[in-house]
Amino acid sequence: MKDNKLKILNQKIKSCKKCLLWESRENTVPGEGPINAKIIIIGQAPGAEEDKTGRPFIGRAGKLLDKLLKIANLKREKVFITSPIKCFPPKNRKPTKREIQICLPYLKEQIRVINPQKFILLGEIAFSIFFKNKKLKDYRGKWVEKDNKKYFITYHPAAGIRFVKFKKILEREFRKIKKIIDL
Ligand code: URA
Ligand code: SF4
Repeated sequence: MKDNKLKILNQKIKSCKKCLLWESRENTVPGEGPINAKIIIIGQAPGAEEDKTGRPFIGRAGKLLDKLLKIANLKREKVFITSPIKCFPPKNRKPTKREIQICLPYLKEQIRVINPQKFILLGEIAFSIFFKNKKLKDYRGKWVEKDNKKYFITYHPAAGIRFVKFKKILEREFRKIKKIIDL
């Protein structure tokens, strides 16, 4: 039943032309993971590797995410991994506010179907969807409870690839995720 709902949604995403990103995409990247995942990880938008394959977080940021998941003692197959934007923004540019707004119903529907209890939000765009008009720096690196769900807010792994400083922070924060999940 749930499975079917996600399949139908993936089909919708595949043929979506609601924003102009459809024109340059090779594949849509709806996200992947178990239908009953307790944890959802939300990034920003697919990159070039993801566009080529249709799979989330398999490029350089994905490799770092894999390491971070190990640190947190989370198995990739056990979490649902996705992004608010389902098509690759050309030249890896930041998605616009409008594109995010237009694509967001897909992520909302995924959340409704999967109904995860914990959210790991990677970076500013994922954060601002759930925490409007708030500052990431006030929320980063800890679990925040809202409407009976728990959110862990941290940087996007792409920041960790660019700067060692962010990589160190990400490693530290994923260790915190492990501690809480261990409890
Ligand atoms: N970065 C993201 O935010 N999402 C992906 O799927 C890949 C890289
Ligand atoms: Fe549709 Fe989202 Fe792709 Fe835009 S980014 S075409 S809204 S699936």
